[in-house]
Amino acid sequence: MKKRLFIKTYGCQMNVYDSARMAELVAPLDYAPVETPDGADLVILNTCHIREKAAEKVFSELGGILRFKRAKERQGERMLVAVAGCVAQAEGEEIMRRAPFVDMVFGPQTYHRLPEMIARATREGGSVLDTSFPAQPKFDHLPATRSEQGVSAFLSIQEGCDKFCTFCVVPYTRGAEFSRPTAQVIAEAERLVAAGAREITLLGQNVNAYHGAAPPSGSNGGSEWGLGELLCAVARVPALERLRYTTSHPRDVDDALIAAHRDVEQVMPFLHLPVQSGSDRVLAAMNRRHTADDYRRTVQKLRQARADLALSSDFIVGYPGESELDFRATLDFIAEIGFAQSFSFKYSPRPGTPAAGEKQLPEEVKAERLAELQALLQKQQRAFNAASVGRVMAVLFEKPGRHDGQLVGRSPYLQPVHAEAAPETIGKIMPVRIISSHANSLSGVIAGDLDEAAQ
Ligand code: SAH
Ligand code: SF4
Ligand code: F3S
Repeated sequence: MKKRLFIKTYGCQMNVYDSARMAELVAPLDYAPVETPDGADLVILNTCHIREKAAEKVFSELGGILRFKRAKERQGERMLVAVAGCVAQAEGEEIMRRAPFVDMVFGPQTYHRLPEMIARATREGGSVLDTSFPAQPKFDHLPATRSEQGVSAFLSIQEGCDKFCTFCVVPYTRGAEFSRPTAQVIAEAERLVAAGAREITLLGQNVNAYHGAAPPSGSNGGSEWGLGELLCAVARVPALERLRYTTSHPRDVDDALIAAHRDVEQVMPFLHLPVQSGSDRVLAAMNRRHTADDYRRTVQKLRQARADLALSSDFIVGYPGESELDFRATLDFIAEIGFAQSFSFKYSPRPGTPAAGEKQLPEEVKAERLAELQALLQKQQRAFNAASVGRVMAVLFEKPGRHDGQLVGRSPYLQPVHAEAAPETIGKIMPVRIISSHANSLSGVIAGDLDEAAQ
């Protein structure tokens, strides 16, 4: 009988990618994924440290896991419990202290050692802590096979960050910036497509800082490729229909990347480009190294390259020292640029980051500002979705919907679209006439042909 593996994933898409790789790493040890920690032989919490709430969730989840672990012990069996990801990296020792029943604690850069760690924890019974930053990247040790990841798959091409925004833990939890060689990325994209992927999202905390070693016969003769060149090359993988990438930094949008939006038809017209604030004073305090105007100009160039490009962003409100005027500047900026979708957060002081030591704004101010900002962003999102009604859009169907006979897919702009369609439609791109729009999704019917504007 197979051993049962339960993985719970928090945080960003890079964690989703890492969780999939961990499942692949332990598959040869006979672990198969299950949907519940109850009775599992191995439980992995793949954690996120980005905001305080995200980190606290882990400790409350561990309380529940302990009960399952004890129940299993009463039956004379063992449940191995692992805490992985960014909380593990940042607070490894603290986890061992607060939750001594945890068997393994390891960070985002060492999970390729999971089979050894399982062997050690099983053999020796004690707990294993590995939060080092190995000199040789984990990617060189991960299995070459890629299991089926669904129609839309994630592919990490870049890790870590050297930007050191003053609010952010990522440079500490993921480590220094690193780009995978282009040949490794392309080979993995080919394997994902062979396993059924039709859309690939290239991932990195700072994905457009990508500068991977070029293949020896690199087309530009250079020794490194940027993201623009990589997109062109990955787009040539046969049967790959759609390409996306996330998360980008406004400072690293170069001309080759903009050109890829114009020239590569697989690159979808939707870009997550976080700005965080519309106030130059706050942007400078955050060490973002770009101004509101820099962002404006970049968006202008992108829209020149691809007129229908839709944007999304992240925003932080209540950063230390943010005045009412700074906040108004952010609202004005949102009104000016227009976002199809966004994420927004109250500033959350993170241990070890520079801004955590600054004087904090009162909680009520943060809450009020967040509510006002989110009302504006939601209005824009609803308007963007409403403008899709009546159009025929290209929808890549991904999975069954909530109702019988219904499937759900994505428009080019990443909007979830529900439509009645046969199960064989999963994995195909179909024209869908949009009938109605909702806060976060669209509904439609399969149509004859695509609108020219909606390809
Ligand atoms: N690499 C991306 C961001 C990754 S973190 C970038 O440079 O934009 C995802 C988002 O979490 C950030 O964009 C930011 O909006 C938010 N975030 C990060 N640290 C935060 C903090 N301390 N408090 C509140 N939000 C935070
Ligand atoms: Fe964090 Fe992004 Fe800034 Fe890097 S660029 S420090 S990941 S917010
Ligand atoms: Fe969270 Fe780590 Fe991603 S802190 S957002 S899981 S890089």
